[in-house]
Amino acid sequence: MSTPHIESNKEDIAKKVIMPGDPERAKYIAETFLKDVKLVNRVRGENAYTGNYKGQPITVFSSGMGIPSMGIYSHELFSEYDVDYIIRLGTAGSYKEDIKVKDIFIAESAYSGTSFDESSSNENTLIVNSSPKINSVLIQTAEELGLNIKTGRVHTTEAFYGHDNIGEKVVKEYNASVVEMETYSLLFNAKKFHKDASAVLTISDNLVTKEEMSREERVKRLNTSITLVLETIIKL
Ligand code: HPA
Repeated sequence: MSTPHIESNKEDIAKKVIMPGDPERAKYIAETFLKDVKLVNRVRGENAYTGNYKGQPITVFSSGMGIPSMGIYSHELFSEYDVDYIIRLGTAGSYKEDIKVKDIFIAESAYSGTSFDESSSNENTLIVNSSPKINSVLIQTAEELGLNIKTGRVHTTEAFYGHDNIGEKVVKEYNASVVEMETYSLLFNAKKFHKDASAVLTISDNLVTKEEMSREERVKRLNTSITLVLETIIKL
């Protein structure tokens, strides 16, 4: 089988999927953390890999950047490949002084001003929630690993450049703490297909203090959040 955007056979995609934004990161996660890895998608360079983590099949599938790209892949994975769980593994900018660079942030919900939800016109879908099931296991696993984590609402924006202007408004009116570009469409599709999804976001920059993470820090911190997500997903 295949879909307009995924060439994988149905049996080559695991029921548990981790989605970084970047195909190179998907390759890194698969090659560094999984065993018996197989490349299962190359369409548009959005590489996906399936392998085993502690004996369980896991797929790492890059989402690409932004609400539409994440929207397409998560839709097809849930609806055509019968995926049950997706955890986004990405980065975000912080709107709050006390959510600092290198912090690991678990999305409880996502707000977006996007028109991605235009087909569900009767519902108030400005805000969508993450899976409480995934989040409780994430929090428990973070405790076991001795990790300090932050939680809260994500602002999913469509404009990487220029969103600083609306940061203050989004914090005040919608209680958002961090900003990124993909979580909303993932959570929206999970709700639509009655599946479970959440996002684990490493804070890469602070929009208040202007602090940024160095390249070496990014890789080190990434390994910590990958471990958190993998150790969580095998318990689901
Ligand atoms: N804006 C949007 N997406 C992001 C940011 C940001 O500041 N940082 C990491 N992803």
